[in-house]
Amino acid sequence: MKSKLILLTSVLIMNCMFVFAQDKVVQSNGEMKVFIDALMKKMTIDEKLGQLNLPGSGDIVTGQTSNSDIGKKIKEGKVGGLFNIKTVDKIRDAQKVAVEESRLNIPLIFGMDVIHGYQTVFPIPLGLAASWDMALIEKSARIAAVEASADGICWTFSPMVDIARDPRWGRIAESAGEDAYLGSQIAKAFVRGYQGDDLTKNNTIMACVKHFALYGAAEAGRDYNTTDMSRQRMYNEYLPPYKAAVDAGIGSVMCSFNEIDGIPATGNKWLLTELLRDEWGFGGFVVTDYTGINEMIDHGMGDLQTVSALALNAGVDMDMVGEGLLTTLKKSMDEGKITEAQIDIACRRVLEAKYKLGLFDDPYKYCDSKRAKIEIFTPEHLKAARETAAQTIVLLKNENQLLPLPIKGKIALIGPLADNKENMPGTWSVAADFTRSVSLLQGLKDVVGDRAEVAYAMGTNIVNDSALDARISVFGKPTYTDKRSLKELIDEAVEIASKSDVIVAALGEAAEMSGECSSRSDISLPVNQQDLLKALLATGKPVVLVLFAGRPLTLPWENENIPAILNVWFGGTEAGHAIADVLFGSVNPSGKLPATFPQNVGQIPIFYNHKNTGRPLAEGQGFQKFRSNYLDVTNEPLFPFGYGLSYTQFTYGELILSKSQLKGNQTITASISLTNTGKYDGAEVVQLYIRDLIGSVTRPVKELKGFQKVFLKAGETKTVIFTISPEDLKFYNYDLKYDWEAGDFVIMIGGNSRDVKSAQVNWLK
Ligand code: BGC
Repeated sequence: MKSKLILLTSVLIMNCMFVFAQDKVVQSNGEMKVFIDALMKKMTIDEKLGQLNLPGSGDIVTGQTSNSDIGKKIKEGKVGGLFNIKTVDKIRDAQKVAVEESRLNIPLIFGMDVIHGYQTVFPIPLGLAASWDMALIEKSARIAAVEASADGICWTFSPMVDIARDPRWGRIAESAGEDAYLGSQIAKAFVRGYQGDDLTKNNTIMACVKHFALYGAAEAGRDYNTTDMSRQRMYNEYLPPYKAAVDAGIGSVMCSFNEIDGIPATGNKWLLTELLRDEWGFGGFVVTDYTGINEMIDHGMGDLQTVSALALNAGVDMDMVGEGLLTTLKKSMDEGKITEAQIDIACRRVLEAKYKLGLFDDPYKYCDSKRAKIEIFTPEHLKAARETAAQTIVLLKNENQLLPLPIKGKIALIGPLADNKENMPGTWSVAADFTRSVSLLQGLKDVVGDRAEVAYAMGTNIVNDSALDARISVFGKPTYTDKRSLKELIDEAVEIASKSDVIVAALGEAAEMSGECSSRSDISLPVNQQDLLKALLATGKPVVLVLFAGRPLTLPWENENIPAILNVWFGGTEAGHAIADVLFGSVNPSGKLPATFPQNVGQIPIFYNHKNTGRPLAEGQGFQKFRSNYLDVTNEPLFPFGYGLSYTQFTYGELILSKSQLKGNQTITASISLTNTGKYDGAEVVQLYIRDLIGSVTRPVKELKGFQKVFLKAGETKTVIFTISPEDLKFYNYDLKYDWEAGDFVIMIGGNSRDVKSAQVNWLK
């Protein structure tokens, strides 16, 4: 403590030299520099390397940090931060060891995977993206930050902004889907929500955009697999959301596991220095993903010492779990493979993050157990979670307006996901108490009260394969396997269903069938669930399929045969209530798909903003020899990007452009009248797409360039207006120059990426 006081006093004296700095930011950056310069002068190489080290939380038990292995390392100044350790008490214990028992008293930074909420869990990120509501997403991140910071956390490993066009890849659940424009807006909303406008407050946390970069392009959708793509595709289609997060002022970046151009991201200097820092001007720190450095050994890049030096040389500042930097960099320095100046840069960036968070002023600023008691899992947060979850639900089909259901008579709720509260939060919800989430059965009962009767049967297990079942009933999310035969389970369900007025079938994936290392080669409903559905249909009762999923599924048979399908993702703590709100119509669904639903896996990758090819198939055309198509399936998706129905109907008028001929930096407006021609009030996500007809490089058939979520009362008409400027026409050309090219453009507006009204404009330079 004594050395810290001396350090602070000397820093205060030096701060006086900066009183003439006019600009507040410049001044505080100046103060930060002086402070860190002074601190680093006192640090040994080992202590500097300690700041680069981010071990897991180890086996810390409250009150025992000091005696644990991790406690020993903290005392020795060999730890920069810890992650995924939960509760104020544990965090305070660990922080105490750092600031009271280590030589330089440097506070630790505490990270966690706060991905879609903290204890109040919001829908999985793919679901959040389906809301197309940036204010809502920002609010969910704000609430997550309030709860996490109240529990001692000051750094989250979120947002995950990897573009994901392959639904076989389980981590599509954590992403915003397939589109770079939507993904960029969402990235910014997350950063604003977590970091607010002032990181020194005790209820904001530092965000970490991940996984940099291209992780979502893993070959064959198999997790951690190789990626390989042109710079063209990278810059135009995959990098924008990471850049948007950087532009929004994100404090940290996490590298991805995959390789890029043959060099793993963790050791890729082009990526982590030339692009991220030199081109984009990122000023925060870079952390690896879990053992990302060590994994470069298996990538075939050399031994631990070699890959650790490679990582530092590339621009890594902090090493998650693997301790390669801690244990080998001194040797590499002595051998001239890296320099002390490089270690200094990385150490400084980690210290700067702690400074920006205000941890040097008050290392315990997030350790207020009173806050933890009153700010976590509050009624207000639960209300927000319920409202948000309802906004993420996508109505895929609603034949004869089967939905919304009246609250009366007998409702049969059937399916293995109906009475399973632990699975409702979905993947990556590490801080949640799953037993406190609301199952669909509970949600239905709460909403209908005594106005209707709800009868329940499981009908089938989620999967009928014990090995697979063991893989998916992990992390405290049981599948509640019933040992009875499928026939017995189906018979029981059919008996209940036959006596009911309507059947709600709660089917789909278990939460852990998506997420990390949960790739699937077959993304249809498990056969046993399809058997149950067929048996339910055979009763002749109307069937509503409530589909739980962390990814787009292939549903051709279901779409053909089931009258109503509600895609509910994993809605978080309040999932059961939110689904009930939509089923009974107190909320009219307005979610739109952030990723294409294919007809079958053979179509993957399938995404709306593809190129035209030299042999395109004309729209609506059947198979044609020597055209780009399949013998056995059409090119169309089952449900296109941006698709989603409502209980009401929206009718689009003609698209009107304010001009059809433009020059230079002029702007135009594209307007369309939108009428709610149905019986219910509701919201529609109106989407703007543009096609650049001729370019110096080939251009996609359309690209999302804007959207507005518009609320209309039944019978109401509004004119929706988009302003378009040359900024919206820009792309990275062959030389990776970001500019627009004169020519003809098709402007399109519609309620999804397929059904659009269009008009053409000529735009000269
Ligand atoms: C994941 C990251 C996560 C990290 C820390 C890794 O396995 O890829 O997304 O932030 O673990 O839990």
